[in-house]
Amino acid sequence: MPTNAAAWIKAANAKLEVGPAPYTPPAADQIVVRNRAVAINPLEWIIQGAGSLTYRWLAYPTVLGSDVAGEVVEVGSAVTRFRVGDRVLGHAVGTDKDSNRAAEGGFQLYPALLERMAAPIPDTLAFEDAAVLPLAVSTAACGLFQSDQLGLRHPSVNGGPTGQTLLVWGGSTSVGSNAIQLAVAAGYEVIATASPRNFDYVRSLGAAQVFDYSSPDVVADVVAAFTGRTLAGAIAFGTTAAASCIRIVGACQGNKFVSIATPPVSFAQLAEPDRGRLALPKLIARLVASNVALQIGARRRGIRTKYIFGTTLKANEVCTLIYRDFLPTALAGGHYRAVPEPTVAGHGLSDIQHALDVQRKGVSAAKIVVTLP
Ligand SMILES: NC(=O)c1ccc[n+]([C@@H]2O[C@H](COP(=O)([O-])OP(=O)(O)OC[C@H]3O[C@@H](n4cnc5c(N)ncnc54)[C@H](OP(=O)(O)O)[C@@H]3O)[C@@H](O)[C@H]2O)c1
Repeated sequence: MPTNAAAWIKAANAKLEVGPAPYTPPAADQIVVRNRAVAINPLEWIIQGAGSLTYRWLAYPTVLGSDVAGEVVEVGSAVTRFRVGDRVLGHAVGTDKDSNRAAEGGFQLYPALLERMAAPIPDTLAFEDAAVLPLAVSTAACGLFQSDQLGLRHPSVNGGPTGQTLLVWGGSTSVGSNAIQLAVAAGYEVIATASPRNFDYVRSLGAAQVFDYSSPDVVADVVAAFTGRTLAGAIAFGTTAAASCIRIVGACQGNKFVSIATPPVSFAQLAEPDRGRLALPKLIARLVASNVALQIGARRRGIRTKYIFGTTLKANEVCTLIYRDFLPTALAGGHYRAVPEPTVAGHGLSDIQHALDVQRKGVSAAKIVVTLP
């Protein structure tokens, strides 16, 4: 049996600590991989800093981590799509309430993954490139394709245009980069926002027009760009995203729906070592007040909104649509890019805490990755 190790989190607000971990064989619908690269998401430092607020159910000690790429070492009894030795990427869901198992966390050498949340990767794609995709793809797909969210037409490598235009606020974020690619593959024109330094990058993903989200005129400029276009809805990344999208969508014709990935308040300060005793209650108060303001603004304009939870696809048809039908073919055929490109912040489980701190301090069109040789 392989010798496993993990970057454990032993309690809410604790730093990660590397130590031995049991090797857990896969359940019937799981695969176990030898992890070769993990990518870092805001989710992990948000749980670390605000675990008592956001993921109250977590059974500590546990293992965080969502983005995994490696080789399959064992398959569950019901798995037919993968064989030992296959190179895969996967979205680990160990912190979900219905999993809540250290064995399914990404930050270990041998995580157990749901077979349906994994996809084969082409030989041309390095593990550190593949690792940038899973959680960002899942989150974008939940917002774009679930029937309780925007419910857009599904992506394919040869679909025709829908004649509708989607607003992606935060197109240079990791999730936004994937939302643009998925929406374009589904036949939507995309209007996006980003910092000017990332305009070319966002256009290279397929966005037709890009606007600076920091400009005082951005709402008016985006509304003007939608003149004569049919809105497919908006998907919102970044703390200012939801409020701006609500104002824009209210002034456009079409699907008045905003899928929201980011709450209107940043959690970054909660992960600071010297955050102070009142940081959490103050954040909760600001969160409640901002959400109430968002809801009032949306209702006044006849707009529906919904928060995305980036693993809900595991329980609906969007999961097989992405991980079985679309992504493997699109990656193998060069129709889909593994972006934002990785910035490798370390090699080994002991570098993951440093990588979390780097991600929390802010990235721009980049994904922080740690390789696991
Ligand atoms: N609800 C969920 O299930 C879920 C899942 C995943 C992520 N998220 C959230 O979705 C957001 C994106 O996650 P990520 O990992 O993709 O982020 P990320 O890559 O770490 O985000 C970095 C990017 O954020 C952009 N940005 C910063 N402030 C912005 C603003 N006000 N408006 C638009 N863009 C802004 C920056 O763009 P420039 O460099 O161009 O300025 C930068 O490229 C985060 O808030 C994250 O917490 C939610």
